[in-house]
Amino acid sequence: MPQPSNAIMPTYGRLPVTFSHGEGALLYDTDGRAYLDGVSGIAVTNLGHNHPGVTAAVAEQVSRLVHTSNLFHIRLQEQVAEMLSDATGMENMFFCNSGAEANEAAIKLARRYGDRKGIATPQIIVLEGAFHGRTIGALSATGNAKIRQGFGPLLDGFIRVPANDLAAIELLGPALAEVVAVMVEPIQGEGGIRPLAPDYLAGLRTLCSTHDWLLIFDEVQTGNGRCGSTYLFEQLGVEPDVLLTAKGLGNGLPIGVCMARGEAARQLGPGDHGSTYGGNPLCCAAARAVLTALKEDALLPQAEVLRHHLLAGLKQRIADPALIADIRGRGLMIGIQPTTPTDTIVKRGLDRGLLLNIAGGDTIRVLPPLVMSHEQAGELGAGIADVLNEIAEQEAP
Ligand SMILES: Cc1ncc(COP(=O)(O)O)c(C=O)c1O
Repeated sequence: MPQPSNAIMPTYGRLPVTFSHGEGALLYDTDGRAYLDGVSGIAVTNLGHNHPGVTAAVAEQVSRLVHTSNLFHIRLQEQVAEMLSDATGMENMFFCNSGAEANEAAIKLARRYGDRKGIATPQIIVLEGAFHGRTIGALSATGNAKIRQGFGPLLDGFIRVPANDLAAIELLGPALAEVVAVMVEPIQGEGGIRPLAPDYLAGLRTLCSTHDWLLIFDEVQTGNGRCGSTYLFEQLGVEPDVLLTAKGLGNGLPIGVCMARGEAARQLGPGDHGSTYGGNPLCCAAARAVLTALKEDALLPQAEVLRHHLLAGLKQRIADPALIADIRGRGLMIGIQPTTPTDTIVKRGLDRGLLLNIAGGDTIRVLPPLVMSHEQAGELGAGIADVLNEIAEQEAP
């Protein structure tokens, strides 16, 4: 690999590889070596690389019309909105370009909701361990103190509580009077693939309904087929008032959405929020193709099927079951928490031609595409076991 350019701000710890092209679950580096993709661009290319439907839709749209701005009606944006509404029951939505922007839209929406109720300093309850993005608002809502460190002053108006602890909210006492919303990821992704307990989520729904708070689900990572349904809330039996997504919706084209229903759908009017690019024809052509493929290609059930093959490969190959402390998540949002140190796992995976990622410091986050073959899923699981076996062997006294 040539020496990386110093013209890039060094905000990422990058691996020493550059990819030239991809096909399905495989990425090829500039020397032609193939890698099995267990990352999907961090839960983005859920339909794999060069998905025929998405590629054709984007190629057709790029030669027709890329961008007009939201000064005009955008038919493709309306079509995506109708498809999302059919899939989720949400009434209306705001289009933006990323997960952080979807969170920013929700924060504004919740504050407006509070303002209309006469609450001067509206508060949003957020969770320890949460990740909502890197813009100042989304960062302020994020639980990881390490990534907030040094960027103050952050935004006021968030009350942070421990996850899976309803009593911690009830104990807030007089502060509850200013709460307008609770914002959570149903499975904390960056936090280490940590699912919120189903009864906790149901309890949050009851609390929100009782107090007239908005329940906001950040499904930026859990959504768009990753967990086996278009959005994870469908499987949980808990309906949010505001639903946020991004990542997999464009399969690599930048698009984010803040969806709302009920009172939440009536908060933002002309001039209240905006985005130059948000929901432009090109990104919406990609999103329409993604939603069409998720619906028509029987891809959603693949999430559980491939999870099964991957974990079977892992369990068959692991030298000692005690090397794995926990396996979490749903569908193809898989967290494997090893008992071995995690610091060399990603590099060892890369050396073996496997793309892996660590989340929450202690957990291997595996996010393969829904189009992986059963064999590739098994191979990925076995490859992870090989990496853990190798570390255990080298660590042995
Ligand atoms: C749950 C969640 N919300 C928000 C974001 C931020 O998304 P983006 O990087 O597109 O701004 C992420 C990104 O990892 C995420 O996982």
